[in-house]
Amino acid sequence: MPTPDAVRTEALSGRKILLGVTGGIAAYKSALLVRLLKRSGAEVQVLMTPDAERFISALTLGTLSEREVLTDIFPENAEGSWTKHITLGLWADLFVVAPATAQTIAKLAHGFSDTMLTVTALAARCPLLVCPAMDHDMYIHPAVQDNLERLRGLGYAVLEADSGELASGLVGQGRMPEPEVILQRVVQAIERREAAPPAASGDSAAEEVVPAPPPADPSLLAGKTVLVTAGPTHEPIDPVRVFTNRSTGTMGFALAAAAQALGGDVTLVAGPTALPTPAGVTRVDVETAAEMHAAVDARADADLVLMAAAVADYTPATVAEGKLKKDEAGLTLHFERTVDILAALGQQKRPGQQLIGFALETDNGVAHAREKLTRKNLDWIALNRANEAGAGFGPGTNRITLLGADGSRTELATQPKPAIARALLLHVCTAGTPAA
Ligand code: CTP
Repeated sequence: MPTPDAVRTEALSGRKILLGVTGGIAAYKSALLVRLLKRSGAEVQVLMTPDAERFISALTLGTLSEREVLTDIFPENAEGSWTKHITLGLWADLFVVAPATAQTIAKLAHGFSDTMLTVTALAARCPLLVCPAMDHDMYIHPAVQDNLERLRGLGYAVLEADSGELASGLVGQGRMPEPEVILQRVVQAIERREAAPPAASGDSAAEEVVPAPPPADPSLLAGKTVLVTAGPTHEPIDPVRVFTNRSTGTMGFALAAAAQALGGDVTLVAGPTALPTPAGVTRVDVETAAEMHAAVDARADADLVLMAAAVADYTPATVAEGKLKKDEAGLTLHFERTVDILAALGQQKRPGQQLIGFALETDNGVAHAREKLTRKNLDWIALNRANEAGAGFGPGTNRITLLGADGSRTELATQPKPAIARALLLHVCTAGTPAA
């Protein structure tokens, strides 16, 4: 972590910063952030949500910022000040929300304007930097990650939460980064804003904060059929028991949503999962590997096939008609191989079709994934590490090494699954079919 003195803050001198503080335990760190910003010569206007005042007093932040903290959209004693959010939105060079709770993130993502903080965010013409802070399970919840992804799509910068000990006593990702780290990001955002050409009138200057990816052509997959598989399969043992794996289907569903957003005609063949169908996607529910094979086979001519499902490699050789009763001698089951759906597609691949497989590995990942890429006649294989925090099965984030049939290797850094799904599709669509 940078020490405050190690951060070069000249760029902040005379800059006008709006600091939104929301109701989370990390609000106590906002006091230090205000001090660091003030020491750097910035003017700071604090906006608090009503819940934030349960964690830190307006008096503390008002004293440190040397400005009255604003909470109410309609203060009782200030005639005509109901347009203050507009004035502030024009005044600020940068709007930082730290800490940003799940509640405020959801409101910002969906254009709510019920507090001084959210209404000013809507009115702001400056870049916005959002610093989430919450408990780990809340942070990795797909609803929160979707909202963060939505904010990125709106041009907001999002500072990833840190991992470590949380106020609940749990350990995981969700901590607000230290004020010094936020200060550094604030300096970068201001410097980038200075370097950028002035935004045309009415443009959202917020885009300047995010250096990153060039905007995706929303019609990149227009006219293309896309087949995505997702989730586990359930192989029945008897009427009440199944043989399955830990796949949640999140990655496949994110791929289907991302492909649809890029204009594709998407069919999602889903194993058992409770996930909602992404908008605009045709869903076919299956249970077993054999059913998934049949559903995929019926659509085997798709232009792009993303085989993200964790298909069971084995299925019980016989399914008991009635529930198997307990036997003190134990239970021995005989399994037989299922069809390798992707390898079958690889054998009948037509010119121009792109096949993308997924390999979940624990060791020698690249070597195993390359072997599968060749054996199954694929164009790409996305390698996940099963034994790595923040990757593999489950909601939240993923890290992928994308290997191409041309020998290429591309690292897609750890990011929420909706973002990594989009990055993977952009790479595959823009790199085309690698020559084997
Ligand atoms: N796959 C498939 N049909 C199967 C098993 C796997 O279509 N019966 C697909 C998966 O959807 C994935 C790719 O093949 O896209 C690689 O799956 P993986 O289980 O990692 O590879 P396997 O070939 O099964 O090798 P192993 O289990 O021995 O690692």
